[in-house]
Amino acid sequence: MSVIEINSLTKDYGHGRGVFNVSAFVNEGECYGFLGPNGAGKSTTIRHLMGFSKPQSGSTLIDGKDSWQYSAELQKEVGYLPGEIAFPSGMTGTQFLEMQKKMRNITDSSYLDKLLKRFELDPNIGLKQMSLGTRRKLAVVTAFMHDPKILILDEPTSGLDPIMQEIFIDYILEEKKRGKTIFLSSHIFHEVDALCDRIAIIRDGKIVSEFDPEVLKKESDKIYRVTFEDEKQWQEFTTHNYQFTSINKHKLRARIQLKNSEITSFINDISQFHIVDFTEFPFSLEDYFMQFYHEDKLFEGVK
Ligand SMILES: Nc1ncnc2c1ncn2[C@@H]1O[C@H](COP(=O)(O)OP(=O)(O)OP(=O)(O)O)[C@@H](O)[C@H]1O
Ligand SMILES: [Mg+2]
Repeated sequence: MSVIEINSLTKDYGHGRGVFNVSAFVNEGECYGFLGPNGAGKSTTIRHLMGFSKPQSGSTLIDGKDSWQYSAELQKEVGYLPGEIAFPSGMTGTQFLEMQKKMRNITDSSYLDKLLKRFELDPNIGLKQMSLGTRRKLAVVTAFMHDPKILILDEPTSGLDPIMQEIFIDYILEEKKRGKTIFLSSHIFHEVDALCDRIAIIRDGKIVSEFDPEVLKKESDKIYRVTFEDEKQWQEFTTHNYQFTSINKHKLRARIQLKNSEITSFINDISQFHIVDFTEFPFSLEDYFMQFYHEDKLFEGVK
């Protein structure tokens, strides 16, 4: 039995918005990443997992319990970090944490103290006076204070500075080693790459790819960046039927993703053009992701 189950979840908000027939399964001790651009449906899926929203069709289960039916119980047990946090006003961080402790029947503060130290958080100021980063840290500590065995994290490092992001990633890696099951959403490639055993890419409310990043890296395609001498050459080449991960008219560049079997014909083809630069890049998750991101509209100036 999977610890986290999403079975054909659909929530149609109209105008193509929402999530459509989304399925995903997370086994015990696994870290599963949900990667997707803004508005893709990440938070919507997570809100259903946490039982804040009722599915139109399909279901989500945590530990075998239906999220909607057992929402109160699951919300108490699961370590949930929301994407957007609304704290009550007129309270200090310390008072807020005391309230959370009571709600969760935490009597021993030693784990909470460890977290406060680790995330360098002094909660003893008013919630309204806290900077965005401090509020995010407070949300992180609140999500983890009861040492939950399941973590559901919606863009966990947004609002944290690079040093805090690293501290957070190290913490999650340790939690993984302790056997925690983790579901996280992100649009930061390096974060999901560092943490996740499996990654799903969600776009326009649908899962368009699911993969193990380690397997993908081994089997991966090659990425080439070509810079042309003039616009005519660039124009001609970019009408070819290659898998472009980005094109940039201003810099007269194109990035192309190729399978090993396509390389010889590509080299023959490119030799007909006047090029000023030709660079091979190691495969990155970012390139893989960009192909879904820009499937039907190639943005200029991406790279
Ligand atoms: N309650 C709602 N009513 C109507 N539309 C909604 C509602 N909640 C979300 N949507 C729409 O559903 C789509 C998915 O939103 P969602 O918040 O899940 O995206 P996301 O992947 O979390 O994006 P982001 O990276 O910006 O946080 C968006 O188009 C959004 O406007
Ligand atoms: Mg979101």
